[in-house]
Amino acid sequence: MDIQFYKALAPRPVVLISTIDKKGRPNAAPFSFVMPVSIDPGIIAFASAPNRDTLLNIRETKEFVVNVPSENILKGLWLCAINVPRGVNEIERSGLHEEKSRVVKPPRIRECIAWFECKLKFEREMGDHVIVVGDVLCSEIRDKLIRDNGNLDVGKARVLMHIGGNEFGICDRVLDIE
Ligand SMILES: Cc1cc2nc3c(=O)[nH]c(=O)nc-3n(C[C@H](O)[C@H](O)[C@H](O)COP(=O)(O)O)c2cc1C
Repeated sequence: MDIQFYKALAPRPVVLISTIDKKGRPNAAPFSFVMPVSIDPGIIAFASAPNRDTLLNIRETKEFVVNVPSENILKGLWLCAINVPRGVNEIERSGLHEEKSRVVKPPRIRECIAWFECKLKFEREMGDHVIVVGDVLCSEIRDKLIRDNGNLDVGKARVLMHIGGNEFGICDRVLDIE
């Protein structure tokens, strides 16, 4: 059967992107159209619909934080996806907490397990979305979530994958290839 292609490209890791507007008011929203672009230097990209407050805030202040959420804040993440008037603090409203970032002005979300602080490199309209590309200025993960082999401990991290609509998955089984 035919399908909108991205629905078969699932589940996708979901992140919470936190930003501030030019008045300094914080905002956060979930995004799953996200990809690493370069390792060294670190560059990340995500695709935003044109009307997102996240995109408007990045245009105003040129900075954003990619926060990696886990299962325990699924409810908070879901609340951040509700469309509210610009300037309403979705982090607070969702029962999540802000934490000062290391190098950028937008706050991190304390309850997440990893944080990538980013500076806008460029944006480009693409179809019905806008690709936002950012330099990763600093990246940090909670202690004890990286295994000895350098990989994420998915059993402990319980990161959220978006299947579609209100369905999410968790990757907690590792298959080793010989
Ligand atoms: C799991 C999940 C993933 C999402 N991924 C995207 C995405 O990749 N791009 C996008 O434009 N919107 C995405 N959305 C929708 C936005 O999060 C939603 O419209 C949100 O209200 C935007 O908030 P903002 O206007 O404060 O930026 C997603 C929503 C959910 C629940």
